[in-house]
Amino acid sequence: MVKKETSLDLNPCSVLKRHHILVKFAVSLLLLGLAFRLLVSDSLTFSSPAVESPPPPTRVETNAIADSPLPSSLPVQVAAAGDSLANESQTVQNASVAGQCDLFVGDWVPDPSGPAYTNATCLDIEAHQNCMKNGRPDSGYLYWRWNPRACELPRFDPEKFIDLMKNKWWAFIGDSISRNHVQSFLCILSQVEQAVEVYHDEQYKSRRWHFPSHNFTLSVIWTPFLLKADVFEDINGVSSAETQLHLDKLDETWTEQYKNFDYAVIAGGKWYLKTAIYRENNTVTGCHYCPGKNLTEMSFEYAYRRALKLVLNFTMDSSHKAFVFLRTTTPDHFENGEWFSGGTCNRTEPFKEGQVDTKDVDTVMRGVEMEEFEQAASLGAENGVTLKLLDSTRMSLLRPDGHPGPYRQFQPFAKDKNAKVQNDCLHWCLPGPIDSWNDIVMEMVIRGPQ
Ligand SMILES: *[C@@H]1O[C@H](CO)[C@@H](O)[C@H](O)[C@H]1NC(C)=O
Ligand SMILES: *[C@@H]1O[C@H](CO)[C@@H](O)[C@H](O)[C@H]1NC(C)=O
Ligand SMILES: *[C@@H]1O[C@H](CO)[C@@H](O)[C@H](O)[C@H]1NC(C)=O
Ligand SMILES: *[C@@H]1O[C@H](CO)[C@@H](O)[C@H](O)[C@H]1NC(C)=O
Ligand SMILES: *[C@@H]1O[C@H](CO)[C@@H](O)[C@H](O)[C@H]1NC(C)=O
Ligand SMILES: *[C@@H]1O[C@H](CO)[C@@H](O)[C@H](O)[C@H]1NC(C)=O
Ligand SMILES: *[C@@H]1O[C@H](CO)[C@@H](O)[C@H](O)[C@H]1NC(C)=O
Ligand SMILES: *[C@@H]1O[C@H](CO)[C@@H](O)[C@H](O)[C@H]1NC(C)=O
Repeated sequence: MVKKETSLDLNPCSVLKRHHILVKFAVSLLLLGLAFRLLVSDSLTFSSPAVESPPPPTRVETNAIADSPLPSSLPVQVAAAGDSLANESQTVQNASVAGQCDLFVGDWVPDPSGPAYTNATCLDIEAHQNCMKNGRPDSGYLYWRWNPRACELPRFDPEKFIDLMKNKWWAFIGDSISRNHVQSFLCILSQVEQAVEVYHDEQYKSRRWHFPSHNFTLSVIWTPFLLKADVFEDINGVSSAETQLHLDKLDETWTEQYKNFDYAVIAGGKWYLKTAIYRENNTVTGCHYCPGKNLTEMSFEYAYRRALKLVLNFTMDSSHKAFVFLRTTTPDHFENGEWFSGGTCNRTEPFKEGQVDTKDVDTVMRGVEMEEFEQAASLGAENGVTLKLLDSTRMSLLRPDGHPGPYRQFQPFAKDKNAKVQNDCLHWCLPGPIDSWNDIVMEMVIRGPQ
């Protein structure tokens, strides 16, 4: 059995800088595998309404843990510990690039009109993100909209959108955040039409829906690394061996279907923080965080960059010309602790510019995304393929109030007001701020390739 601590991302810099944090870690190493189980490993069969809560962890026994583990990628916490709310020193970005309004430079402003759907009108909300149903007491987080500095961002217009999408096929390709995203999309569209599910895999991770009135097809494809990966995790996310990640091979789960897609929203990243043995040309070339293995340590940054190069080259070089969005990394908001040590996200309002800084891991990831995007976009342009950056990192960073927190569970405090409940400060409540990602997607579709 693989030791639990293999999930750690021990970046030497963060280790030195935050030595004290590691002391706490040592105590909690056993919890790590479980952490991934809940969020990143994403093994819950949430889509089946019968399953409200995950089965108790099997391998990670009853020590300390009952209340601690949380969904996020631990490494994110490691690197970020201590500065999660540091001041934003970055300069305010330029709101207007080449004469066109930058949709990602803006602020959250009050919006009394509230969300476009509720837990009663949308039946596609995953249990762990159905915050209202789960008893989240405050609702202020629903009354904000993203307001770009240099232009008006209209609300997603589902009627207009679905008219535009006659005979088209969309795919969301990635991990559990992509699924969170597709559910927001479905919920918004459910105002005009209830989608018919036409496919799901065994664990409801990959699914496909059809909107009969417009012959519009929508897929979500589970491929957390985007690359070919042999993952040895059971349904609880407990691994029996290290993931074998092929840095030179794309995951055929999505590439085989790619020629169908008119639009593809591709995203990844967080799974690269996990332990994995890296292979190229079928030969082990290194490893990310596997002490004791006598393998060359390689950074997640290296692997993620290789992945994006391959993914973007495949899509931009393809004879099939889709409209591709690359979505940037999504930030988490654990405060006053980590996922395993009581970290919470109980804020009820957005941050303002300057109140929060991007965590180290997200800075690195977004950096890789930006660089690979720039290169690939010009390759795409030569080949007549559109690549757009859905740069949602910063707008999302400003929404610490948008996560389920303890309300990933159904009525977590019903029996005991002081119950210790694991918090999810990575995924987003539905309805919630993630709906604004789709307002931007709609606007980008309307603007077109340009
Ligand atoms: C954060 O930055 C703002 C302006 O950039 C400054 O006014 C404020 O004092 C800073 N806060 C901290 C805690 O450094
Ligand atoms: C913003 O962009 C405009 C046009 O590209 C440029 O003229 C201006 O100097 C930029 N401002 C800043 C603060 O970078
Ligand atoms: C929706 O949430 C409310 C609480 O805001 C809850 O009373 C209701 O049962 C939920 N409805 C559904 C269909 O989940
Ligand atoms: C429906 O759309 C798909 C593309 O998504 C297309 O291949 C198919 O021919 C369309 N069906 C009809 C009846 O137009
Ligand atoms: C991959 O392996 C094959 C044979 O196993 C070899 O011929 C080839 O040169 C290798 N390629 C690289 C890039 O190492
Ligand atoms: C580690 O690997 C190197 C090269 O493969 C080998 O020479 C060395 O003996 C190994 N060390 C241990 C402790 O296995
Ligand atoms: C993209 O992949 C093709 C083969 O699929 C290769 O010929 C080309 O050099 C690659 N381009 C880049 C920029 O990596
Ligand atoms: C939020 O959580 C912190 C502990 O992490 C606690 O001290 C604070 O009282 C909480 N705030 C609210 C409004 O519940």
